[in-house]
Amino acid sequence: MNIKPTDNEQIILGIESSCDETSVAIVRDGREILGLATYSQLVEHEPFQGVVPEIAARHHLLKINPLLDEALSQAGVTLHQLDAIAVADRPGLVGALLMGVMTAKTLAFVLEKPLIPVNHVEAHIYAACFEQDPVFPTVSLVVSGGHTILYYSKTITDHTMIGTTIDDAVGEAFDKIAKFLGLGHPGGPALDNVAEKGDPLAYAFPSVTFKKEGYDYHFSFSGLKTSLIYLVKGMQEKGEPYSIPDLCASFRKTAIDGLYEKAKACCTRFATPHLIVAGGVAQNRYLRTRFLSDSDWQCTIPPGNLCGDNGAMIAGMGYHLHQQGIQADYRLSPSSRIVQKGRRGEVWMVDST
Ligand code: KG4
Ligand code: ZN
Repeated sequence: MNIKPTDNEQIILGIESSCDETSVAIVRDGREILGLATYSQLVEHEPFQGVVPEIAARHHLLKINPLLDEALSQAGVTLHQLDAIAVADRPGLVGALLMGVMTAKTLAFVLEKPLIPVNHVEAHIYAACFEQDPVFPTVSLVVSGGHTILYYSKTITDHTMIGTTIDDAVGEAFDKIAKFLGLGHPGGPALDNVAEKGDPLAYAFPSVTFKKEGYDYHFSFSGLKTSLIYLVKGMQEKGEPYSIPDLCASFRKTAIDGLYEKAKACCTRFATPHLIVAGGVAQNRYLRTRFLSDSDWQCTIPPGNLCGDNGAMIAGMGYHLHQQGIQADYRLSPSSRIVQKGRRGEVWMVDST
């Protein structure tokens, strides 16, 4: 891959505030994380068992300046040494994104530095490039709380959407099932932990792969979710015993096996043995084992601390966009959606939750 320091060293600030993580990072030449300060709003959203958009926005506002100071101090650089300000401007919760975008605009204006808009979902793919050298072109699978997307990635900045979910994102399905089973917030890691103690073959659930012409690389998680909920309610009504660890293990296996199956089909379709899996759900233990133990492909997954939302992936992607001369003006406005063209020219409108 073409991540090489140029003669002219570039220090980029990255700001991430698309959901419930406020994160600021300073990255040199798209590669070296000099400073990374993140605040996860777990305590704030715990009582609601889910992310409340207005609470998220208010806490970004409280945390963003102290995190900026912390990242600068870790990096040992001053604001004036920055070469550009990169910010996640889409997709995400608009009120939450606004806090990062307004901070980035202010810094860019006052410091007279370029303002670089970064697609948060594509930046997740970038997180795989810090400690490893993925080969491009590659198939990329982003699995998070808001998205489940398969891309054909020609280069680190050129991603074409091949498939997505037609309903819930995979992380959302984990979170909702964890909530239903009373496992707490955030649900994904909690369900993953409980699943470790269960039998993945105890219950049979419908696959998340979508079998319909034109939907070869799409997913659907609502059938899996509903099936588990109805099964549990049925057993409760009949007074039958059931095992929560077995339910979690079977749910996790069905969800991840479906992702694996479609990623495999996509690699075959594009004749590439390379795959990147990124996003918060890429921390899942069964996912990592399943994808990394397959020697038929070269699979790259970011380290656990860079799978979830973080400013480093924004700064890293921002470095490459900056090299290409991509820049926003002060009209930059956040968006909840990504609008992108697929390989057949179809227009995808993918919402964020
Ligand atoms: O990428 P991310 O931090 O934020 C979004 O862009 O959405 O992903 C957050 C999602 C949440 O749904 C969370 O429950 C899920 O990632 N997650 C996991 C695990 N760790 C985080 N899901 C399954 N297993 C995990 N170990
Ligand atoms: Zn994310």
